[in-house]
Amino acid sequence: MSIDKYKWWQKTIVYQIYPRSFKDSTGNGIGDLRGIIEKLDYLKELGVESIWFSPFFTSPQQDHGYDVANFREIDPLYGTMEDFDKILKEIHDKKMKIVLDLVLNHTSIKHPWFIESASSKDNSKRDWYVWRDGKKPGGKKPPNNWKAIPGGPAWIYYENTDQWFYFHFLPFQPDLNYRNPEVKEEMLNTMRFWLDKGVDGFRLDILHSIFEDKLLRNNPFSWALTLSDKKPACYFQYHKYDLNLPETLDFTIELRNLMEEYEPDRFLVGEIFVSIENVRKYYGPNNNGLHMVFLFEFTSTPFKSKKYRKVISRIEKALPFPFTPTFVYSNHDRVRHISLLKDNVKKAKILATMQLTLRGVPFIYYGEEIGMGNVKFKLKTSEDPIGRKFSKFPFPQIVRLLGFSLTRDSCRTPMQWNADSNAGFTPNPEVKTWLKISDNYKKVNVSRGEKNPNSLLNCYKRLIEVRRENISLQEGLFHIIDLGKLNKKCLAYKRIHEKQEIFVYLNFINKDILLENPIQKPDLIFSTLSNRKALDPNAYDGNIKLTPFEGVIFK
Ligand code: NOJ
Repeated sequence: MSIDKYKWWQKTIVYQIYPRSFKDSTGNGIGDLRGIIEKLDYLKELGVESIWFSPFFTSPQQDHGYDVANFREIDPLYGTMEDFDKILKEIHDKKMKIVLDLVLNHTSIKHPWFIESASSKDNSKRDWYVWRDGKKPGGKKPPNNWKAIPGGPAWIYYENTDQWFYFHFLPFQPDLNYRNPEVKEEMLNTMRFWLDKGVDGFRLDILHSIFEDKLLRNNPFSWALTLSDKKPACYFQYHKYDLNLPETLDFTIELRNLMEEYEPDRFLVGEIFVSIENVRKYYGPNNNGLHMVFLFEFTSTPFKSKKYRKVISRIEKALPFPFTPTFVYSNHDRVRHISLLKDNVKKAKILATMQLTLRGVPFIYYGEEIGMGNVKFKLKTSEDPIGRKFSKFPFPQIVRLLGFSLTRDSCRTPMQWNADSNAGFTPNPEVKTWLKISDNYKKVNVSRGEKNPNSLLNCYKRLIEVRRENISLQEGLFHIIDLGKLNKKCLAYKRIHEKQEIFVYLNFINKDILLENPIQKPDLIFSTLSNRKALDPNAYDGNIKLTPFEGVIFK
């Protein structure tokens, strides 16, 4: 691939909306599509280019939309198909792209397919899910030792047909059986349905678990207690036979081929739990698999220059150009990263600068740009079924250290638009919003951020502008700069394009740093400090001082 063939999706900036929590238009305390339409101008002004929506399809909402009961309808809670068509048109009119969240792996138990499938052994949909006899003798034990990702056996017994069905995630999310060609065909047609409407891409939910071992062999032992992004193992089990199967890798090529049928280009980004070193196989043997895969390592990397240097080098090694890496700090499952930074806005600005200047696609989770943090909720009464599950878990803090939210309610609270009652999230100031609003909403909100030139929000806006104005930040190759002893304190790299070179220096410590002769005739195009003056070329003596936690970009 030559550099001028760079595709739009390789240099886009994605913004994730969790529809329940972005903007409520009806006053019932739950976000919806019309609410999102009201806020498209905000996103346009922010400068993001692609908007990914967590699922808004028909669903009993047991997992808030990741339990789908109809893949081709909008849940009335969020609006109608007319609302969807409107949102799609408005996004396109504003020259932005729309990305849907597709849960190919499973349905809700309330999906008509599953209801049929569960009704009898000879139902025509029986084989659409994974049903098996229990272990002999008696069949009253699950067919094998597989565990669900949040813990506990991955099988549920149905008395009426005396068989067990398999689920990878939660018990009300039965896995579809992709060994059945009808299932595959149906789900590919679902993708076509949305692509024909004009959707520009899909985020593919837990794609690693599409296929499971044909023989359902037992998974081997592992010392891993909880899931991490390093290894697909947890609860003392290595997920050898239920995750990352060769059939799943082959499937990514089929998915890519389907996307290639469409013009202009569309893209796929997969949610997959593999280490950076193993991720490449999902991009396909000839970069003909998924367009991108989420790299989650940043969600739990400590705020240290050397740590990030190491992770970035691993990513560059695993996914050299023309492969496209991704950069994620938070999402609807993970701890909002500003909370891991103890609400230190200067540090958040450093990470934002890094995310928007590395080679690859940044994913910004709604509210990240204003510094929304995690909110405390009781596990036992949490809306999120995972939170309720963890209320019985003996060492919940370990999960948090790995970057996962204990109850995902904590990272899904309503967007903080202004300092009015209910943070301007809903037109009804009295209504109890589906999740409580963070106590800090009077201080942390869009309206306040917009007014302060030195806010995190304005830092994001300036960064996005700089990225859009400078070709090497979109298409340039990446080179780490060795600062010797300073590597411990400062992360430095350049982006190289035939037309331009850009230099990024990030001060990771709470002290001044002196850069000696970093470049000839530096032209400062960005600093995390909004009031940093342009460098006077006549007064430049070869040294540049970075103030505590300051990040700068030169050309
Ligand atoms: C991963 C999604 O990110 C999460 O929110 C969801 O609960 C599970 N997949 C199940 O679909």
